[in-house]
Amino acid sequence: MSCQKSHAPAPAEAPERLEHWWHRATGYQIYPRSFADSNGDGVGDIPGIIGKLVHLADLGVGFIWLSPIYASPMVDNGYDISDYRAIAPEYGTLADLDRLISEARDLGIGIVMDLVVNHSSSLHAWFKAARASRDAPEHGYYIWREAAPGGGPPDDQEAVFGGPAWTWVEEVQRYYFHYFSPAQPDLNWQNPALRAEVHDMMRWWLDRGIAGFRMDVISLIGKDIDQRIYEEGPDLHPFLQEMHREVIAGREIVTIGESWSVSPETGLLYCAQERKELDMVFEFSHIREGWHPELGKFAPKPFDLVGFKRALFEWQELTRHEGWNALFLTNHDLPRQVSFYADDGKHRRNSARMLATVLHMLKGTPFIYQGEEIGMTNARFERIDQYRDLETLNHFEDQIARGVAPEEFIAGANRNSRDNARTPMQWDAGHGAGFSTGTPWIEVNSNADQINVAQDRSDPESIFAHYRHLVRLRRELDVIAFGETEPLLPDSSAIMAFQRRLGSARVLVLANFTANRQAVCLPLDTCGEGRCLVSSHRARRRIDPDLEMAPFESFAVLFDS
Ligand code: NOJ
Repeated sequence: MSCQKSHAPAPAEAPERLEHWWHRATGYQIYPRSFADSNGDGVGDIPGIIGKLVHLADLGVGFIWLSPIYASPMVDNGYDISDYRAIAPEYGTLADLDRLISEARDLGIGIVMDLVVNHSSSLHAWFKAARASRDAPEHGYYIWREAAPGGGPPDDQEAVFGGPAWTWVEEVQRYYFHYFSPAQPDLNWQNPALRAEVHDMMRWWLDRGIAGFRMDVISLIGKDIDQRIYEEGPDLHPFLQEMHREVIAGREIVTIGESWSVSPETGLLYCAQERKELDMVFEFSHIREGWHPELGKFAPKPFDLVGFKRALFEWQELTRHEGWNALFLTNHDLPRQVSFYADDGKHRRNSARMLATVLHMLKGTPFIYQGEEIGMTNARFERIDQYRDLETLNHFEDQIARGVAPEEFIAGANRNSRDNARTPMQWDAGHGAGFSTGTPWIEVNSNADQINVAQDRSDPESIFAHYRHLVRLRRELDVIAFGETEPLLPDSSAIMAFQRRLGSARVLVLANFTANRQAVCLPLDTCGEGRCLVSSHRARRRIDPDLEMAPFESFAVLFDS
């Protein structure tokens, strides 16, 4: 293979962009149930989070995305809210939350709340009123249909968590629609009074001093179920624009929407600055790359780096001049990244550092999911009774009934179940991994005595230190915060390579996604003598067109031309 000159077009200058605090910040997602338990009941809580703020300040993050801590029957671990203005007793009190907001603010960390308004809990006062009488104003806050002629559900729509999307309510003689579980009835966004309630609640939280919202499955709120249009329905963007006008305009907060359907064709509709909707969206094209096209997440296919890069770079290109990226590889719904994308055994530390380098050198706001900063791995449960997640449990029932062997399902769940990311945070090698003095609500990963914060931070080459360095680079270097991204070697199934450019500054990023040494052949005009910004192995300064990379090696070099 001979090395060639690259034919990448000379990058155009970006139009002037208004800089916001979140452009250089890194987010950190906390799944409260599994983060830190202060009272020994086996469930994480808000005082537990407060006790760990120093860890996050040390990492340098700019804000915490707090998965739901609201009152909830916890059918979906808080993504089923029964009171949007109250805290679940197992997590603490409103006073605890106010203390978290203020102590985090003192450390320069904002609190971003999870806004779950596609649906409420079936135990929300609205739904209780709605299901009691057709005449209650709240009846119109939910989506109802009559039974089919002759009885039974109105149609055959299915819920994402398994089973029909319809549940019958005797009192009103109607079915309600639930995209997720029956405990999560969908809110009817067509109802202006419901929208006004949501806006009011959002303002109430913002007035308490939070830094913004992560909006759960927000792309579903404009749905038209009769047309079977769920994602990105006709009213989605009008609803988001209205929310911006009513709640967000004039406040220096951050808004991140979750959308499982957004594509490069629709991405800027959410986050182009002048449209006044959201600041960025979590989009999942790179995640879906790892799923089986027909059988979905419980039958994952082997990781394909070429498809993964294509997905990420497509969004880098989309947001070259407009919009913004939310960068992530894992969250509470996804497997641990070292287990899914790299090697969680012998090469775990370098794998973790390599994945961090790749993500944090891209353009956008990166998110670290709790435990990622020490390279936590998938749970590897052996039996279905070790799982807690309703999606996994429902799909198990469903697939076993369809003839799938239990071992086969567990193999898929070991790779992709949401519980892989929900095992308790591993703080130390003591009882309950330092997460709880009691019995954790879900088993601690069996590797907690080797993989934990205390162990990692005592290592001079720690994964934590690597993350801290990456977080700082984004704050300090304009080229990392705002530089344009230029993909290199798109067809390589082993190497991820790209450059970032801003003015005369250029950063070259290289990562070996394999457990083998790899010979890399770079375009001549990417080479030269630079300054090593970050590296998992020896610091590289001189970049030659032919170089060899160690297993899971990664580095970034800054050039000034
Ligand atoms: C997306 C959340 O991330 C997930 O955990 C939840 O189950 C669904 N939305 C329903 O709220």
